[in-house]
Amino acid sequence: MNAPARPDLTSLPAWRALTEHHAAIAEVHMRELFATDPGRAGRYALEAAGLFLDYSKNRITDDTLRLLAQLAREAGVEDLRARMFRGEAINATEGRAVLHTALRRPRGDVVVVDGENVVEAVHAVLERIETFTESVRSGAWRGHTGESIRHVVNIGIGGSDLGPLMACEALRPYGHPGLTMHFVSNVDGTHMAETLKRVDAASTLFIVASKTFTTQETLTNAHTARAWLVEQLGSDAAVAKHFVAVSTNAREVGAFGIDTANMFGFWDWVGGRYSLWSAIGLPIALYVGMANFRELLAGANTLDRHFESAPLEANLPVILALLGVWYSNFFGAATHAVLPYDQSLHRFPAYLQQLDMESNGKRVTREGAAVDYATGPVLWGEPGTNGQHAFYQLIHQGTRLVPGDFIVPLDSHHPIGRHHTLLLANCLAQTEALMRGKTADEARAELAAGGMSGAALEALVPHKVFPGNRPSNTVLVQKLTPAVLGALIALYEHKVFVQGAIWNINSFDQWGVELGKQLAKAIEPELEGRAGGSHDSSTAALIERVRTRRSA
Ligand code: F6P
Repeated sequence: MNAPARPDLTSLPAWRALTEHHAAIAEVHMRELFATDPGRAGRYALEAAGLFLDYSKNRITDDTLRLLAQLAREAGVEDLRARMFRGEAINATEGRAVLHTALRRPRGDVVVVDGENVVEAVHAVLERIETFTESVRSGAWRGHTGESIRHVVNIGIGGSDLGPLMACEALRPYGHPGLTMHFVSNVDGTHMAETLKRVDAASTLFIVASKTFTTQETLTNAHTARAWLVEQLGSDAAVAKHFVAVSTNAREVGAFGIDTANMFGFWDWVGGRYSLWSAIGLPIALYVGMANFRELLAGANTLDRHFESAPLEANLPVILALLGVWYSNFFGAATHAVLPYDQSLHRFPAYLQQLDMESNGKRVTREGAAVDYATGPVLWGEPGTNGQHAFYQLIHQGTRLVPGDFIVPLDSHHPIGRHHTLLLANCLAQTEALMRGKTADEARAELAAGGMSGAALEALVPHKVFPGNRPSNTVLVQKLTPAVLGALIALYEHKVFVQGAIWNINSFDQWGVELGKQLAKAIEPELEGRAGGSHDSSTAALIERVRTRRSA
């Protein structure tokens, strides 16, 4: 059932009030806000599911937060949230429910879709995953030649790659010491070739992960891997012991030649970029074991319960979302940086890029009208401290406003010497520097203290000034455990949801991927001279050049 069309975002009373409020506080410096309000840090902090959020270093006042929460209410965030958790088909363009939250429900919970309690089905698959992963991890599962498994190669792309890859990297301290995980996603043959150099067929398990099982990149890679395995082990029969599939499409899995007994299923109400909690998480469960995988799910579920029940003003994902709306729509910020001060989260920004940009990179409302406001930001990031020596210059002294999230664990899995103290100090220093900046007087005094004076000093001052007033959030966690990682991912999933709800866009389809796919299909035979096509002069000349100049 479709909800009635919502009034245009920019005509909501809270939007108008925020526009006026922005004009009033846009020039106010956070230094001043901190100086005049000693309770600020305490008031603008929240904690849930093992995540502590300090959002006091934002260009906000109590009025800002009140109006932003009002905007969320007027935009119908609470209603859409309830409809999502209930399993309504809120992904209207694909006619699907959005129920990744059901994947992390404990046994005994009930979520009914089409008359079926999907939580039972979820746990049935989890049990199959448990049996399978235990047999691989214990060495009981034997390959075609009798060897146990030492290498796992996940073949998938997008949501069938980024989540498992990111989580396996993040949870390395929990990984099975005898298993090496590999991920092949790119259709560039180099990705597969370089991976196959590092594994030996007899002890390698391939997971072909594809929701649709029709994705060109994944099927091309899977066919290459299968041909290699059969050649290495000398028999088609080897496939049964070395290939498993994760998909919603049993027919295509069978057509590929994988016995559906070796297939782990999931459902169309799990979006690709929200699927690591489903059987798509098989590589995670293999690597860190089922108990840890269940902890990951439980951490996400704790955050789900918080998101579902906490008032908007005290709701972590809602607050992150509203701050993002504040900067995107009122300050004109085009990007958002995610800056994990944790090396094991080095693929987290890449993972979030799909989550956020494939979800909220939309230009029409749920009703199909063009929006007249900005939607999802360009999301990017790198682990600290590497970013500090690369792009932080622009964040500190450039002309653009780049809000960012700093994420750091209090305890390291590798407490070597003073490394972690230095990491923490850098993280906290950056958020302080971004907020405070450095005035011309401070720069002058510093240069004078260093022995400089006169014209030389004055010439340098403008270069040494930091405007500050650059917003950031800080997320502190005790330690990056599976439960904390689960909560952290769910935090961003729900942030994206809330923003999509406010912008009145469908965060759960991805039609923007289609056009390139269609055109690639048309160009492919043209590159091999098997077909001709009609193109603009640039594309036609490039096709011709590729066709006639490539040597292989
Ligand atoms: O990029 C488009 C997309 O459909 C993603 O949403 C999805 O995660 C990815 O392709 C892979 O799809 P599949 O799991 O069906 O191979």
